[in-house]
Amino acid sequence: MRMEVRRRPTTLAALALCGMLASGCGGGESGQETEAGPAEDAATEEGTRLVPPAPEELAAAADQGEQLFQTKGCVGCHAIGGPTMSAPDLQGVTERRPFAWITSMVTAPDSMTRDDPEARALLGQYLVQMPTLGITEAEARALYAYLHGAVPSS
Ligand code: HEC
Repeated sequence: MRMEVRRRPTTLAALALCGMLASGCGGGESGQETEAGPAEDAATEEGTRLVPPAPEELAAAADQGEQLFQTKGCVGCHAIGGPTMSAPDLQGVTERRPFAWITSMVTAPDSMTRDDPEARALLGQYLVQMPTLGITEAEARALYAYLHGAVPSS
């Protein structure tokens, strides 16, 4: 699947794609696009599936996460310790947000800005809805591992 990095087209493409796939965005049967939002998933599954990666996993998955950060277009909106763009600087995000929260934000940002007060506050600040990019939970773990260890680029 091709994903453009640019802001508006990505959003529109993501929305169009979501509309076309009856099962919703974010990968199959988990139905992350429907009423029972990811915040609820996170709450019920906490302590099992959404256990933060251990140090070995963080180290092992960071490279894959870095690649995903480029190929999925995150880099088009987010800096890591760089100049603030159209989206929050992700430096230190793994310290200021819980793992489950970050996972929900990356896999189903639209539900988060609707249902989660902190995500909604970010939307109020940046006035851009982060697009749903079809990130799986495994990919979100790798992205977390990358963000956890990422060194500022500037
Ligand atoms: C089109 C621009 C855009 C893209 C692409 C994008 N984001 Fe975002 N992201 C945002 C915006 C804007 C917010 C703030 C919430 C909102 O307004 O939707 C955000 C919020 C976040 C947050 C919470 C930040 C905080 O300070 O708590 C995380 C984590 C995040 N994004 C990760 C990612 C990852 C990982 C990717 C790639 C898979 C990605 N984003 C792709 C725009 C984007």
